Amino acid sequence: MNIALVILAAGKGTRMNSDLPKVLHPLAGAPLLVHAMQTGRSLAPAATVVVAGHGADRVRAAALSYDATTTIIDQEEQLGTGHAALQARAPLKVFDGTVIVLFGDTPFVRPETLAAMIEARGTHDLVVLGFEAADPGRYGRLILEGEALTRIVEFKDASEAERAITLCNSGVLACDATLLFDLLGGLGNDNAAGEYYLTDIVALARTRALTATVVRCDEAETLGINTRAELAGAEAAFQTRARLEAFEDGVTMPAPDTVHFAFDTVIGRDTFIEPNVVFGPGVTVESGATIRAFSHLEGCHVAQGSIVGPYARLRPGTELNENVRVGNFVEVKNARVGPGTKINHLSYIGDATLGAQTNVGAGTITCNYDGVMKHHTHIGDEVFIGSNTMLVAPVQVGDRAMTGSGSVITSDVEPEALALSRAPQIEKPGMATKLFSILKAKKAQQQRGS
Ligand code: UD1
Ligand code: MG
Repeated sequence: MNIALVILAAGKGTRMNSDLPKVLHPLAGAPLLVHAMQTGRSLAPAATVVVAGHGADRVRAAALSYDATTTIIDQEEQLGTGHAALQARAPLKVFDGTVIVLFGDTPFVRPETLAAMIEARGTHDLVVLGFEAADPGRYGRLILEGEALTRIVEFKDASEAERAITLCNSGVLACDATLLFDLLGGLGNDNAAGEYYLTDIVALARTRALTATVVRCDEAETLGINTRAELAGAEAAFQTRARLEAFEDGVTMPAPDTVHFAFDTVIGRDTFIEPNVVFGPGVTVESGATIRAFSHLEGCHVAQGSIVGPYARLRPGTELNENVRVGNFVEVKNARVGPGTKINHLSYIGDATLGAQTNVGAGTITCNYDGVMKHHTHIGDEVFIGSNTMLVAPVQVGDRAMTGSGSVITSDVEPEALALSRAPQIEKPGMATKLFSILKAKKAQQQRGS
């Protein structure tokens, strides 16, 4: 089935008390909106339309950075969910198929649930995602006749008897595109909120002898975020689920509560993750790797058998091949590190390519930034970089070359050469003893004077 997504994200989110639009607040390293987009992506949609309003420019930038093919449409005045969905009519003018409407502030809907809705669409014109609410509060209530959904009544407009219903509207729905925009065009706003309710299309469909049904999901999936406290609660829920999934995927974590995952973290089987590890967005760790305590990883790939940390930082663009060692207080950014290479202590490796079986000594720095531009460092295979080497980029060190400790390397080093660039050591016999006595006499004089 041909699918288009329409994600409603124009609301202000007043209760967040923030300059940032609600849908851009981060959950597991990604804006709430991206979670909705990621779930929707599982349906391989032909088009994705995000309806933006408050902070539209920032919403646009976030949506496009996740998926550059997204269409962002402005809803200048927020006149209700029905009015918001109607904004997608123009960008979907030539689209033929089923539209799924999602909310940008509802991050936990599962791909399987959307798939079930698509299946139900096969036999119904309109499919609404509902859930049994423990506390139905202010949710819209789903009115059924048998299994047929006849209408949705908003809390504000509901009678006492309707408010007693616990089957609630999640906001997610699926409908044929032409029909949806046709129905939306016929909406009025004569209700308690004076808004165009998306939910009213169910009753409208009924008057045309079309059929609507409910697909039910767990209440946890429909959780919407309205406050910072709810955002923190959602983060906790996300992390709990991500940790359980990691266990199922064969990951060992002795202190799971201290390991934080991002929305897109991928961890292979038989990986060992020590306590207090943080995964930012875009991390893939292959099977059999070890991430040691207090390490921070984002935008990087760690291949099989590598050991990272403790206290390591892998920044975006880091690519560790098999059996690499990145040790304590080492930062790596935008660098490819060849198999078996070791960077074990106190180093900064940025904008670099390192070959296989190379050893980078303690305190080595790739001086990649000249104050204006970034430059690349290339280090070959089986190289020995002496401790405290400054590699002033752009610079290349050939295969099986060496640099002497404390060297400042400003020009390329030939393969198999030794490069040294430090002041030669001089030695003055007896001079230490002489200096000590001069200094001690000076100190004694000062103490007498004071
Ligand atoms: C909506 C549903 C309600 C359901 C609840 C589930 C309607 C009329 N009501 O109510 O049945 O139980 O969600 O959480 O649909 N938005 C826009 N433009 C607008 C208005 C809203 O883009 O003009 C967006 C918001 O940013 C948000 C989403 O639509 O992402 C839902 O809006 P919200 O105001 O939260 O609807 P509810 O009153 O919660
Ligand atoms: Mg809401």
